[in-house]
Amino acid sequence: MLGASSAAALSAALSGCSVKSSASGKPQSLSFSEQEFSAAHEAPFPKNFFWGTATSAYQIEGAWKDDGKGESIWDRFAHTPGKIKNGDTGDVACDSYQLQNADIALMRAMNLSSYRFSISWPRVQPGGSGAANQKGIDYYSRLVDALLEAKIRPFVTLYHWDLPQSLQDGGGWPKRETADRFADYTELMAKALGDRVSDWMLFNEPSAFTELGYNEGTHAPGHKSVLEFLKAAHTVNLAQGAGFRALKATCPAARVGTAFNMSACEPATDSDTDRLAAERAHAITNLWFLEPALHGKYPNALAFLPEKAMGIKGDDMQKMRAPLDFIGINLYYRTIASAAGALERLAHAQEWLFPVKMVGGIQGPKTDIGWEVWPKALYDVVMRITKDYNRPVIEITESGCAYNDGPEADGAINDTRRIRYHGEYLSALAKAIGQGADVHGYHAWSLIDNFEWAEGFSQRFGLAYVDFKTQHRTMKESGKWYAKVVEENRVVDSAMVAARS
Ligand code: FCB
Repeated sequence: MLGASSAAALSAALSGCSVKSSASGKPQSLSFSEQEFSAAHEAPFPKNFFWGTATSAYQIEGAWKDDGKGESIWDRFAHTPGKIKNGDTGDVACDSYQLQNADIALMRAMNLSSYRFSISWPRVQPGGSGAANQKGIDYYSRLVDALLEAKIRPFVTLYHWDLPQSLQDGGGWPKRETADRFADYTELMAKALGDRVSDWMLFNEPSAFTELGYNEGTHAPGHKSVLEFLKAAHTVNLAQGAGFRALKATCPAARVGTAFNMSACEPATDSDTDRLAAERAHAITNLWFLEPALHGKYPNALAFLPEKAMGIKGDDMQKMRAPLDFIGINLYYRTIASAAGALERLAHAQEWLFPVKMVGGIQGPKTDIGWEVWPKALYDVVMRITKDYNRPVIEITESGCAYNDGPEADGAINDTRRIRYHGEYLSALAKAIGQGADVHGYHAWSLIDNFEWAEGFSQRFGLAYVDFKTQHRTMKESGKWYAKVVEENRVVDSAMVAARS
């Protein structure tokens, strides 16, 4: 089911979608011994491995109403007082709408072979349906051309959270018809870019944006309704199936996946109830949008889902199917799961719905945003998905860390903790590849410091520093180190990079 078909090129030629950039073949199998995930370990990677960084439209582009762009739910949410730390907005963000060339210069300097970015739906189709905005399409078209020129794979996410506000006004993701609008928009973009873009993601983190946006209310559109959340989750599963079919109908050779937010779910104790809770946490976090795509059903461990409240009907199970060509994994940390007691279930909406309590781990060091650094989580999840889904093609679509180091007196940004983070996560990944996982790429979040959703500009994830007053970009030490990793196709020791430069 997963994996690029060899007949794809032929169907592409017949469809008129000629795809220039191509993904690597199967990585060579490596022998990699059991060891600690230490940055000092020089882990080798398969030939043609995609080395990338990731960003998203709302977090970097700015130009929130330029050239005919429509309003998105994130524009509306960020303009609502009290929603974003320090009253920050993405109105200007990193101004990448104007500074595309500066971003590409950084990618070249990092030797990247892949760049994951997203399309702002309201920039290319302002009302969420109907007429396209040619100026918006031209922006992405120029970006794709410039990337190909720099020999960097354009790796395109269709939906990274910025729904056109007009679609939200009409009901948003809880409304079934939004799945059809998404399929139309997907077709529009496939027609516009499919002659040059070969690798696509339908969604970024479906379980995150449905939960945070419709249940918790901390992300756009800021609703707090378990019912809306359940319906939104189902519509997004339908949209994943419909979007997949729309993309393949236009460009049969396209490789299509989704970037799922995943986490290694560990039981808090060895008790049977906690182990059951960990399996449920795994299904809630990692499988809720993957099982419907690959197997046309909700995960077995979620048998308690209220089908009626979700709005499931007719042949929906069939409609949700999307035999993805690759599984995108965004992974930052692990989750510790335990059985939620009756009181907890009453107190918290999510725990009312799911009999599971999920918290972050506390043994590892914390990044500035408070997330635990736990490289083994990446190894565990990649191996579990490899085993449970018959060795699918995997792309690591995001991993990264917030450390707010700024320029020192000499202008250098010595973010050694970031080097250590990526070094350790990459070593964990190399170990998984050595044990048979078919991983084709790694995308560090992020190319540049940017607008971190409800945290505003308070959290810096970039391999390059952005001065948000001048928009000046400066490569951090981690960016220089990453360039070396890419050049040598293995995890190099940070000390060695310092000695060489
Ligand atoms: C992920 C999001 C991404 C970014 C990172 C830090 O969950 O996909 O946009 O905010 O977290």
